[in-house]
Amino acid sequence: MIPQSFIQDLLNRVDLVEVVGRYVKLRRSGANFSGLCPFHNEKSPSFTVSPTKQFYHCFGCQAHGTAIGFLMEYSGLSFPEAVRELAQSLGMAVPEQDDRLTPEERVAEVAHSMTLGENLVTAMDYYRAQLKGSSRAIAYLKGRGLTGEVAARFGLGYAPPGWQNLAAVFRDYGQASLSDCGLVIDRQDEGNHKRYDRFRDRIMFPIRNARGQVVGFGGRIIDSGEPKYLNSPETPVFQKGNELYGLFEARASIREVGYAIVVEGYMDVVALAQLGFANAVATLGTACTTQHVQKLVRQTDRIVFSFDGDAAGRKAAWRALEASLPYAADNKAFSFLFLPPEHDPDSFIRESGDAAFLAEIQAALPLSEFLVRELCTGKDLALAEGRAKLLFEAKPHLQALPAGALRLQILRELARLAQTSADEVSAFAELPSGVTQRRAPPRAKRTAPSPIDTQIMRLLLAHPHLFAELDPAARAILTSHPLSAMAVLLGACAESAPGATLASLSETLLRGPEGEFFAELVKQVLDGAEADRETALGDLRAAIAKLRNRQIRSELDGLAQRATADPVAKARIRELMDEQRRLNHEARPNLSD
Ligand code: UTP
Ligand code: MN
Repeated sequence: MIPQSFIQDLLNRVDLVEVVGRYVKLRRSGANFSGLCPFHNEKSPSFTVSPTKQFYHCFGCQAHGTAIGFLMEYSGLSFPEAVRELAQSLGMAVPEQDDRLTPEERVAEVAHSMTLGENLVTAMDYYRAQLKGSSRAIAYLKGRGLTGEVAARFGLGYAPPGWQNLAAVFRDYGQASLSDCGLVIDRQDEGNHKRYDRFRDRIMFPIRNARGQVVGFGGRIIDSGEPKYLNSPETPVFQKGNELYGLFEARASIREVGYAIVVEGYMDVVALAQLGFANAVATLGTACTTQHVQKLVRQTDRIVFSFDGDAAGRKAAWRALEASLPYAADNKAFSFLFLPPEHDPDSFIRESGDAAFLAEIQAALPLSEFLVRELCTGKDLALAEGRAKLLFEAKPHLQALPAGALRLQILRELARLAQTSADEVSAFAELPSGVTQRRAPPRAKRTAPSPIDTQIMRLLLAHPHLFAELDPAARAILTSHPLSAMAVLLGACAESAPGATLASLSETLLRGPEGEFFAELVKQVLDGAEADRETALGDLRAAIAKLRNRQIRSELDGLAQRATADPVAKARIRELMDEQRRLNHEARPNLSD
């Protein structure tokens, strides 16, 4: 957990225009900046960034949010990743609540990661330069059908033969960070310490993370030899279960064509890009993990896994299916393509053409069919035992699926095959909400906010610091308000850093218990006119007076009925009426003078 105060501090320091400007060409238009929306295809700019509000909004596709939201949406980062990314760009170290590291240690950790990143970039530049000078490496890539343009796009390079080429590239070949980032290997040899380059005489594929930073390399041997591919080891900046080769390069194309292709090899990704399929990514010689799938579903709703037609491919496909199940919501589509044995996507297209590959993509097996088909394999459904085994094996997979229409369809299909009912299958699999969609948990009784409540909350959202400027009586009126959203908002205002803004506050609120309500409110604030601090404070005071007036009136109404008999009620009525008079005087200073 990252503390909310840090997130607010971060958003108060970051400049959204600068963050968005790294990826989108922005031009000033009035008080705002505008450009072509990166989240949908458009010809005229409807994407605007407000430097004062630190919010972006697209009038075409309704995308909107803060710098954190932008990075999540654009780069497919998770919330903590986006926060870390922004923090790093500002030289801030992200604290963790329950942190094992001291702030100093965390700063050191960030600095170390940055050094590793710099080393990897230096190495990439070196390998790229070496490729230009190696006719053998160039001939190999040409022989595999790649143009210089595609090679450049993927940053392909060449590590020449020789044991210590990097000694001439780095000022200090002995530095620990060179082995920490996987570029060199250390060996104890009869008491002597030896260090040598990991990659020698190989075509180099730089692996970039979602942010475009080089985190490692894959190196292919030229022609034949063992191992065919050598990969960077896991390092502090590179975890194979988390990175997809080519995702950074494929992002724009994935958005454009509306789906991603997941293949098994580096070369498949590059070759597919060369052959007109720029939307392909690859796992890095490992099984597809849930983190991989999560990264992809942040970028697109449609994912096609393409596996080689052999037994290993089939096994890999099943692993990918298992990783996809938790994300198989009704608005997502996963499908599985099995190429003929002996083929991978690269060789298939070269032999059969791109139209044939596109046809394979369109005919790919949907997740539901692949799941049911595999579950049925090897079971005799004419026997009760076979049908029971089917349900037994289906159970964990059904549990992994999110509730929804797709799960219901799969339940129905399994029920048909097992000669039972969907409800019975659901009960057998112990699905929490039966065959129906999970319902929202019952909320505590809540009253709907009145227009005056929302006006107060809008003002506080737009100017969080005003809460601290109210007098204690006005603050008490707000803190005793029964509305839970009010309590959440006041809590956020009170906790917020002195310079808190709408943007920083909204990140906290949109993630909180009344998130949906605040999302609507934030939208209203952004759509409304911008008031200066003085005007806003005046409006806020007037609105609180109005609120208090309303409370007094309703209490008076209640008291009036028992007042004739009850002296306490009478006294209270007098008290309230006095307050009412005072309020009305204060609320309209201009009118009473
Ligand atoms: P393949 O052997 O299918 O290679 O390995 P490929 O992608 O078709 O490569 P080309 O076309 O022969 O050049 C698929 C993936 O498995 C991992 C790599 O990630 C590779 O891209 N792999 C393979 C290794 O990590 N090491 C190996 O020795 C072989
Ligand atoms: Mn291949």
